[in-house]
Amino acid sequence: MGKRWLKDRKRDYYYRKAKQENYRSRAAYKLIQLNRRFKIIKPGYRVLELGCAPGGWTQVVRSIVGDSGFVVGVDLQSTEPLGYENVVFIRGDFTSSEVRDRLKQLIPRCEAVISDASPAISGVWSVDHARSVELCENALSLAEEHLEQGGALLVKVFQGDLTQELVSRAKKSFSFVKLTKPKASRSESAEVYLIAKGFFPVKKGEIYEANVADVSRRGDGIAYINGVKVFIKGAARGERVRVRITALKKGYAEAEVC
Ligand SMILES: C[S@@+](CC[C@H](N)C(=O)[O-])C[C@H]1O[C@@H](n2cnc3c(N)ncnc32)[C@H](O)[C@@H]1O
Repeated sequence: MGKRWLKDRKRDYYYRKAKQENYRSRAAYKLIQLNRRFKIIKPGYRVLELGCAPGGWTQVVRSIVGDSGFVVGVDLQSTEPLGYENVVFIRGDFTSSEVRDRLKQLIPRCEAVISDASPAISGVWSVDHARSVELCENALSLAEEHLEQGGALLVKVFQGDLTQELVSRAKKSFSFVKLTKPKASRSESAEVYLIAKGFFPVKKGEIYEANVADVSRRGDGIAYINGVKVFIKGAARGERVRVRITALKKGYAEAEVC
């Protein structure tokens, strides 16, 4: 790091604030600001955190989830313990099958998956962007494996031409998806955060077999697929149908017979 970089860092408002308030990173304020606005983490939540070192976000998460929550943080680097029984750090690569298997044991279900993971920067923009998107895709697939219905995903991505594909993929499993940049994120940085809320264990556009258990007042069939309440146009009670999920709404999905 050059002298100029060190001087700029010392002048940085959030860097100084983190020092004063004993946060391990200035990034802690990005999570504080995002959570204030989007309520991704709430008291008592189980949270899986990807790319957690040195632990600034984990401090924020622990302060929100409190004694009744549970946090598992993963990083390639080791993370100094925070001193709470309900915060566990794993050293390893969250894209590897070894770590993914361990996570299945440690935190099989959770209400939120968050990732501030950054790839090692090569300086070649297209390469760094593609690596960042690859980390995001891994975070998304971990979210699909671990989240309870209604759960949330927050993930950092370096913007570029693959970002919209990532957004489209998230929209298949979440009812609310948005890209945003918190105030604490430097304006010159190309990072943005993808917020995805309202997770469904069924995917928009995919086909499922369903038993129609009931009929709604509007005359749509009602079936439960992977625990999700699905309204099916034109389906009658007692029928077994093949359906395509057409929309994810707040708390329920819609489908058509195909
Ligand atoms: C910007 S830092 C996270 C800072 C953290 N949010 C905080 O507030 O302290 C990004 C981290 O992602 C980690 N990382 C990148 N790829 C990873 C991977 N495949 N598995 C685990 N950690 C990874 C890096 O080691 C690095 O520590």
